[in-house]
Amino acid sequence: MDYFHYLEDRLHCEEVPLEEIAAAVGTPCYCYSQRTLMRHLQAFQRAFVDTPHLICYSVKANSNLTLLKRLVDRGAGLDIVSGGELERARRAGCPGERVVFSGVGKSHDEISAALGYGIRMFNVESMPELYRINAIATRLGVRAPVALRINPDVDAHTHSHMTTGLWRNKFGIPYGQAIDLYRQANRLGHIEVVGLDCHIGSQLTTLDPFVEAIQRIGALLPLLRREGIQLRYLDIGGGLGIPYESGDQPPTPAQLAEALHSQLQQFPDVELILEPGRAIVGNAGVLMARVEYVKPVEDRCFVITDAGMNDLIRPALYNAWHGVLPVVRHFDRSEWLSDVVGPICESGDFFARDRLLPEFQEGELLVVRSAGAYGFSMSSHYNSRPGVAEVLVDGNRFSVIRQRETIEQLLAHEMTDELHRS
Ligand code: LLP
Repeated sequence: MDYFHYLEDRLHCEEVPLEEIAAAVGTPCYCYSQRTLMRHLQAFQRAFVDTPHLICYSVKANSNLTLLKRLVDRGAGLDIVSGGELERARRAGCPGERVVFSGVGKSHDEISAALGYGIRMFNVESMPELYRINAIATRLGVRAPVALRINPDVDAHTHSHMTTGLWRNKFGIPYGQAIDLYRQANRLGHIEVVGLDCHIGSQLTTLDPFVEAIQRIGALLPLLRREGIQLRYLDIGGGLGIPYESGDQPPTPAQLAEALHSQLQQFPDVELILEPGRAIVGNAGVLMARVEYVKPVEDRCFVITDAGMNDLIRPALYNAWHGVLPVVRHFDRSEWLSDVVGPICESGDFFARDRLLPEFQEGELLVVRSAGAYGFSMSSHYNSRPGVAEVLVDGNRFSVIRQRETIEQLLAHEMTDELHRS
């Protein structure tokens, strides 16, 4: 459920008409609803209220500093995957104690910086990474808290690009090597073994894969205990799906909690960590664009907008389905078979294809829905297009939380001289 709705045929975000935002900020722009964001965070916090837990919002989904700060202020921790995201965590005021660091390719610098920040734990994805962390911690004279990310070899039944828990995926430590690597980790002088982690994929629309994964990795806990390895944290990753099309009914955080309840009860002495990204921010944001041209061809028309695949790449990359809505509704308009596309020089530059949509006219506004997660954060400068503005709505007020980039800023890091010596 979100707070984008029509009032007198004008699409509003909470109490603000989107037309007003377009007039003030221009297009394209991302608009986020604070109320929706908070509602989704709370849904997780309430669902797991009976279990000691920490919700570590996955920064990659949407890393805008204002959004991070609002989430952190409401008690969220952060799941990060790079030095850049660590710096965002710092600037959002997230204490190290609430930061977990995931990812298969952590660099020396990233590991040192995270140790310096005093993060809760590294989710270690390979043996060489474990030894690298130990070496850096030795040099710094600290002990590095680690969880091992175990690949449970469970099919998440989602898009192949978003499946991470199969043996064939690059993620995590193969299940069969888990116990041995824990033993090794336990013997390393500057490693403190604190947790067990898994993340099997994103946009999961059924609960069975979660249950299966927790069964698999949960079975390791008593074995480890027998070896004298007592873990404090069980991190089950993110991945809960969201409704993109009307009629989609992915499980709610409460249903996830219920499905895992009996398993989690077996581990009363571990704190649960979750890393949701999309489920918190996905439906809290839309991408607003203006129609530049309408071009009829054969059986359909191309609605060409000022936003492109560089601003929201999910349809091009995953053939993802996003709803498209007019910002002003006209009930007297007929419907047309439409392709809503951008200005980029690629045929993959589309937001919606083969869609029956009310006729659009040049200059009108539309939104691409469910764009809060993996929208701006995956945007690029392709075709030398500056980054778009981001706006946060809170009740009847809105503020720009990222300014539109200028072409000057876009080019600022490039040189025009032929020879440059370092
Ligand atoms: N934890 C880890 C270790 C992850 O790799 C991810 C997402 C998450 C948590 C958060 O997952 P979520 O709750 O958002 O599903 N770009 C794709 C999604 C890629 C997800 C990458 N990892 C998309 O646009 O759908």
